[in-house]
Amino acid sequence: MENDERFAIESDLLLEAIYRMYGYDFREYAEASIRRRLTVWLAGSGFASLSEAQGKLLRDRALFDQFVRGITVNVSEMFRDPLFFRALREQVAPRLKTYSFVKIWHAGCATGQEVYSMAILLQEEGLGGRYRIYATDINEDVLDQAREGIYPLQDMRRFTENYQKSGGRRDFADYYTARYDHAMLMPALKNDIVFAAHNLAVDADFGEMNMVFCRNVLIYFKASLKERVLRLFDRALLPGGFLCLGTKETLENRQIAGSYDELERGTRIYVKRYL
Ligand SMILES: C[S@@+](CC[C@H](N)C(=O)[O-])C[C@H]1O[C@@H](n2cnc3c(N)ncnc32)[C@H](O)[C@@H]1O
Repeated sequence: MENDERFAIESDLLLEAIYRMYGYDFREYAEASIRRRLTVWLAGSGFASLSEAQGKLLRDRALFDQFVRGITVNVSEMFRDPLFFRALREQVAPRLKTYSFVKIWHAGCATGQEVYSMAILLQEEGLGGRYRIYATDINEDVLDQAREGIYPLQDMRRFTENYQKSGGRRDFADYYTARYDHAMLMPALKNDIVFAAHNLAVDADFGEMNMVFCRNVLIYFKASLKERVLRLFDRALLPGGFLCLGTKETLENRQIAGSYDELERGTRIYVKRYL
């Protein structure tokens, strides 16, 4: 109990110090999850306690960057939740086609699998050359991996299954070249994607979006930060725009809920009303 209390105090102080030093705000991340990540990071860090690590973290930027990598969860996959992508293909793409150009923001894009899945879908649905994707994350390292678009070959089997279940129209192998134990995505998929660092807790919104993806990110935030980030997305989205959340995330009981309708119950695709 005493140890838990000490850890809680040390973690609160560390997150406050980090915010003041670097402007990275982890203070409003869900407590259980951030403490679990801090415990894992600490165990592999060589420091005896978070207090001991704090002095070093405030002085050593490289160590801090490694810390950010350690405490954020970056797992992703292509066509994750295939039924979500099927709904995008069957119900959202036809509406997007009525626009001459669409702007899409993937917030918390991690290593890029979701972004490339969307690029494939848009091209297959006849939107090639008519979109720009802004893909952002707090973590520079995962953004570098996203820009490369190279994934372990062993992941391709699952990605292929997901792609097929999501209603993919081609042979998934058309989209990558296998090299040893890696798969390199077709460079042309990157053409209309801009990758950039962006911190949802402190940075401003990107304007005039037709779609915002923020899947499997809000689950790590406390209610107050969820509200703030959802308001940010609301400002970024045009009326008629789509807000896509993860399967465990919903707009229910959120302040902006009244301005959105779920496309179909359970899809977690919300359409912004025209007021
Ligand atoms: C589990 S991944 C989700 C990846 C992808 N959206 C998906 O669903 O497959 C969560 C991502 O959110 C990012 N993240 C966490 N806090 C963030 C913040 N404050 N601003 C921007 N990105 C953040 C993490 O770095 C991580 O890459």
